[in-house]
Amino acid sequence: MPGTVPQEPWPTDVGIIAVEVYFPSQYVDQAELEVFDNVSTGKYTIGLGQSKMGFCSDREDINSLCLTVVQKLVEKNQLSYNDIGRLEVGTETIIDKSKSTKTVLMQLFESSGNHSVEGLDTTNACFGGTSALFNAINWIESSSWDGRYAMVVAGDIAVYATGNARCTGGAGAVAMLIGKDAPLVFDRGVRSIYMQHAYDFYKPNMDSEYPLVDGKLSVKCYLHALDKCYEAYTQRATQTGIIGENASLIDSADAFVFHSPYCKLVQKSFARVFLNDFLKEPSPDFSGRYAGLESFRNLKLENSYFDRDAEKALMTASNSLFTTKTKPSLLLANQVGNMYTPSLYGGLVSYLLSVSPADLIGHRVVLFSYGSGLASAMFSLRITKDLGPKFHKLLENLSNVKKDLHDRVKVAPEEFDKTMKLREETHNKAPYAPVGSTKELFPGTWYLTEVDSMYRRMYDRVPLVQIPNGNVKN
Ligand code: ACO
Repeated sequence: MPGTVPQEPWPTDVGIIAVEVYFPSQYVDQAELEVFDNVSTGKYTIGLGQSKMGFCSDREDINSLCLTVVQKLVEKNQLSYNDIGRLEVGTETIIDKSKSTKTVLMQLFESSGNHSVEGLDTTNACFGGTSALFNAINWIESSSWDGRYAMVVAGDIAVYATGNARCTGGAGAVAMLIGKDAPLVFDRGVRSIYMQHAYDFYKPNMDSEYPLVDGKLSVKCYLHALDKCYEAYTQRATQTGIIGENASLIDSADAFVFHSPYCKLVQKSFARVFLNDFLKEPSPDFSGRYAGLESFRNLKLENSYFDRDAEKALMTASNSLFTTKTKPSLLLANQVGNMYTPSLYGGLVSYLLSVSPADLIGHRVVLFSYGSGLASAMFSLRITKDLGPKFHKLLENLSNVKKDLHDRVKVAPEEFDKTMKLREETHNKAPYAPVGSTKELFPGTWYLTEVDSMYRRMYDRVPLVQIPNGNVKN
């Protein structure tokens, strides 16, 4: 059912109109996990900067996560499924080598009769959601656009084998409604891309949910990609006037949101942007912003990925800017862990929830997306200058996030470990009847009820809670 074919070739203010986030209702405490894993106290909580890690039982898979977040976005915004002309899924949680999660989501569209929905799944580690988002923006700005909204879903279950990477897992999904005249508007002409072949993190074993990870290489690749994206983004942002003449990138934006494998890497990444600005600065102020950095003036980017002295000095020098411009975006990353594709967008949601709406007016947010293998991008958006109803609605619909984080159930590391073993043993099993409890799931959560002998997956939904005025609580 096509919408009205738009008259103007360039729809204005294309961006995010609404956003919904979903994370599991159970978590393991990182301090308790340190004890269970027999690592030194503080390694996960201070060394990596993580507090809690969300995880799924065998009741949830990539399809159920996406069903949950899409339906909630539609319900909260009173949308009709007919309003959506494109639906994209970004994920690296693959449970079928042919049938996309997008096609599973078409069940939600069935009763509307809308089968005219472009878009499929996109995969490359944590970058698939960003690629899906770019597809959606491009569609709206193209001659193929039929005037309807695009919806982008980023979802993943991030699990690692026993060992030093396991504590950097997480799970969740973010759905975004993309359209014109949006309250969060993507900047045009500045998107920078860096892609390269690397075996830093990959999933060649189809029988396992776990990746093969070269942890140190993945950190190096992430920081290298960040340097490259910084270079191209700053060039374009200078040409388009986002970065003023002789100004630095850090001063040109109110917030920097990064893909977060773990929070400490994000702090190091902010320090890296600071380093890039510092190296470009013709006459750095060593008694002010760049105090303590004199000896790093001739640092070479490519030799400094694991230079601990430089890293420490840069993190100290950039700490107050990090605290205002990036730390507020780390709420979900710290409380849920690495959600993979939704991680960056969870960062954006966290930032939006960190201050009062009035304090967000006109803010520019720079985003860095990274997916191992590798694919990366730096791009930016600006928050509307007027606090219109769309902006209020966007924020109002996120008002459950902090309460839901708080209301989750803490599970002992022993139980978490058992759940991981169960997922290992039953991954791709058919027929299979999941055994995980559905009692703790949030209202409105879709869950797996059965995998039949033909590997077909069946789902059901936890009812929404009725509240006394007859409405439903999402
Ligand atoms: N108290 C405080 N800090 C501590 C303690 C302690 N008791 N023990 C260790 N630390 C610090 C370390 O000094 C280190 O900090 P530093 O890097 O600032 O020096 C940090 O904690 C981590 O310790 P390491 O020994 O470096 O950790 P390890 O090598 O065992 O594992 C790693 C870390 C490589 C990140 C691993 O968890 C991993 O492979 N994760 C998955 C890959 C990943 O997330 N890569 C990032 C980009 S790709 C992606 O998004 C998936």
